[in-house]
Amino acid sequence: MQFRCAELADIDNVLSLHFRYQVDSIAEEDKKDGFVTTPFTKEEMTQLITQERGLFIAEKEGEVVAYAMAASWQFWSKWPMFAHMIKGLPSLTYNEQVLSVDNSYQYGPVCVDKSVRGEGVFEQIFEFALQQMSTRYPILVTFINKINPRSYAAHVRKAKLDVIQEFEFNNNQYFELACPTVR
Ligand SMILES: CC(C)(COP(=O)(O)OP(=O)(O)OC[C@H]1O[C@@H](n2cnc3c(N)ncnc32)[C@H](O)[C@@H]1OP(=O)(O)O)[C@@H](O)C(=O)NCCC(=O)NCCS
Repeated sequence: MQFRCAELADIDNVLSLHFRYQVDSIAEEDKKDGFVTTPFTKEEMTQLITQERGLFIAEKEGEVVAYAMAASWQFWSKWPMFAHMIKGLPSLTYNEQVLSVDNSYQYGPVCVDKSVRGEGVFEQIFEFALQQMSTRYPILVTFINKINPRSYAAHVRKAKLDVIQEFEFNNNQYFELACPTVR
């Protein structure tokens, strides 16, 4: 297994993995193990790679089997969910720091192909992405839909994220979580 920053040539493979687990195209039997929500475009992935250096992948025998995304709040701000989270940052304190768009970034989504789940790929891609972002930001912030208990278990028990608040948006219930990028 190789972990690395994605390049433009990886976009098609990343999107193919993404849409296998995206809510509108995921197979019905896979839904219980979680899904990703946002239908990203090639242009958004290009921007994520070239402007944010925020797409991380795991490759096995030439196949992209996992990805993790991470980017500035500015990148995410065009999606209403993130605009909502940005507004809430100044009222949140983590490790005695008031959160802001400067001291934190938004990690996620993350996706591990079902062929390699439960094998430590999640922990490794999480740590790789965290380490890459640590030179730019002290705090990772993310959210998890309460109807995704597998993702919650992975992030809280394995990646050791802390729940910093719970919130509702568009009739969905979410946990908001954080961790220091250096620990
Ligand atoms: C979420 C995801 C990245 C986690 O990676 P993973 O390789 O499946 O994670 P792991 O199997 O190592 O860890 C998940 C843990 O949750 C547990 N789990 C599985 N289903 C569960 C459920 N319904 N409720 C609670 N815990 C559950 C697993 O048993 C495992 O714990 P264990 O290893 O102690 O048994 C992966 O499942 C995935 O890509 N899902 C689809 C997309 C997604 O939901 N992404 C996250 C939202 S952004």
